[in-house]
Amino acid sequence: MTNFETLPSEEVYTLFQKLVYDKLGIHLAKQKRMMLGHRLLKRVKHIKANGFSDYFRFISHPDNDHELEIALELMTTNETFFFREEKHFEYMAKTILPNINPNKEYKVWSAASSSGEEPYSIAMLLNEHCSAPWSVVASDVNKSVLAHARKGIYIDDRTKLLPHKYREAYCVKGTNEFEGYMRVKPELRNRLHFFSFNLLDSMSSLGKFDLIFIRNVMIYFDDKTRQKIINGLQQCLNEGGYLFISHSETLHGLEHSFELIKPAIYRC
Ligand SMILES: C[S@@+](CC[C@H](N)C(=O)[O-])C[C@H]1O[C@@H](n2cnc3c(N)ncnc32)[C@H](O)[C@@H]1O
Repeated sequence: MTNFETLPSEEVYTLFQKLVYDKLGIHLAKQKRMMLGHRLLKRVKHIKANGFSDYFRFISHPDNDHELEIALELMTTNETFFFREEKHFEYMAKTILPNINPNKEYKVWSAASSSGEEPYSIAMLLNEHCSAPWSVVASDVNKSVLAHARKGIYIDDRTKLLPHKYREAYCVKGTNEFEGYMRVKPELRNRLHFFSFNLLDSMSSLGKFDLIFIRNVMIYFDDKTRQKIINGLQQCLNEGGYLFISHSETLHGLEHSFELIKPAIYRC
């Protein structure tokens, strides 16, 4: 590779765009060529490919599935934090949970959980406010962020958004080489189930939930993909169940039978 090829040509970029769309549903806009170059350059160098075109050929070969997975993971954006979009958590605590059946398991799915801050926030809140037995499952297509989520270790700074009482009750401070980190206590950690799941796949075997969080992921998809996902999610919600999307997202323009309760809160 010459020293100058730090981003793919427009032609090669279209190949990556199609690959990322087909595998993840993520629509990479034309302007993201530079971003793709930045994110993949290290891998191009690592496998000693002769430029982006050569790297594309490499990951397209069936023997190189592992490198393909790495490349796709690098295409996902995993930004998240504890109690992000607090209004959802307030609504859960004040409106949904006081009205549930205490004799029936309350099931929640965090459908693009990234490194775990979202499902751990849900679990903390349920542990405080849910009168019924509860379960939280969390999935993501990116196995590296799921591995992070399962460990439940976060830089201290990341846990600053946790209400003090939750930090005290559910986290332990790291010592020695973990100085500056917090870890979610095993009593809570072990109650969550993390699994790898691509939202493009059939949801028919996932079962039914009372509440699904699908936040800050549909922004990466086009309407066709969003529609397919919404159809699947409808099948996964119990009667009266809730769907939370991000406040920066909308179901506008999609066909669905949810009732809009509040911004970013839908009911089945
Ligand atoms: C920005 S994070 C959102 C995390 C969390 N829901 C929140 O709102 O803070 C988006 C996540 O969606 C995941 N993702 C992207 N495409 C996906 C797909 N096709 N199936 C499942 N997860 C996907 C990414 O790996 C990433 O972790």
